Amino acid sequence: MKISIIGAGNVGSTLAMRIAQEDLGNIALIDIAPGLAAAKQFDIDDSRNILKADFNIKGSENIGDIHGSQIVVITAGLTRKPGMTREDLLLKNAQIIKNLSLEIKNSAPKAIVIVVTNPLDSMTYLCLKTTLFKSSHVFGMGASLDAARFANLISQELKVASSDIEAMVIGSHGETMLVLPRFTNIKETTLDKTTTSSKVEELVKRTKLRGQEIVSLLGSGSAYFAPSASIAELIRAIHFNQKRTLPVSAYLNGEYGIKDLCIGVPCVIGENGIEEIIELNLHSHEKAELQKSSLSLAEINKRIVN
Ligand code: LAC
Repeated sequence: MKISIIGAGNVGSTLAMRIAQEDLGNIALIDIAPGLAAAKQFDIDDSRNILKADFNIKGSENIGDIHGSQIVVITAGLTRKPGMTREDLLLKNAQIIKNLSLEIKNSAPKAIVIVVTNPLDSMTYLCLKTTLFKSSHVFGMGASLDAARFANLISQELKVASSDIEAMVIGSHGETMLVLPRFTNIKETTLDKTTTSSKVEELVKRTKLRGQEIVSLLGSGSAYFAPSASIAELIRAIHFNQKRTLPVSAYLNGEYGIKDLCIGVPCVIGENGIEEIIELNLHSHEKAELQKSSLSLAEINKRIVN
């Protein structure tokens, strides 16, 4: 399997190392910054002998190197710099995603595309609308990371093994994400039945702020260890046709009463990408929150897709 990663920053290069270590496929790592992807390639390559692993990775500035990929991951894009508005970031990253999507359409027309660039749900929608790929072949990684963060915080707070927790977060990968304690399983029960509502509320709040908390502590840049682990989890689900249920930003066409946008919902992920969209039985207030989140996404989408 050929896996291309566009963007050799922290998320892209950490992901490349994970794929190499797990031997999930041949890797093309691309970045427009002169020398960056090649440097990361050499560095990762130099661990081959130590790890006793004969993986293949090629780093370059040439987008044409994605040719024939089965999976393409887009991590390229800007993060907000001082003085830059959200709108500036949106328009700049939209231009990057649009150009890359056209390249993917030409060079890797059969690929499953995983979008990671923020604002995630809008960039996923733009990629889908530009490539015109099947909607099962383009999705965004965001909600599975949010769910992993929720699970981690629960594990530490309630002193439960992380592997005994299956958390669920849906909605937009941003401030309006919908953290769902009722659908978060801990052993034989759910979070809302395990602990007090004030503790649940606090865990939900911390989950929503987790990405921002890391950004503030870092000073520049954003999280990459858990994001790259989350992307690798999706790649494994495709590679081994695992049929795992994971929340991803998926194109909705009436599911959850939402049409024509990408937003985080649980999906079955296998060798064909999104193989099924799972409709959770949401309470009316949860549905209303999801609708609200989708309305603001629709407004943003209008500004970037024409
Ligand atoms: C975050 C970025 C990766 O949530 O979207 O940390």
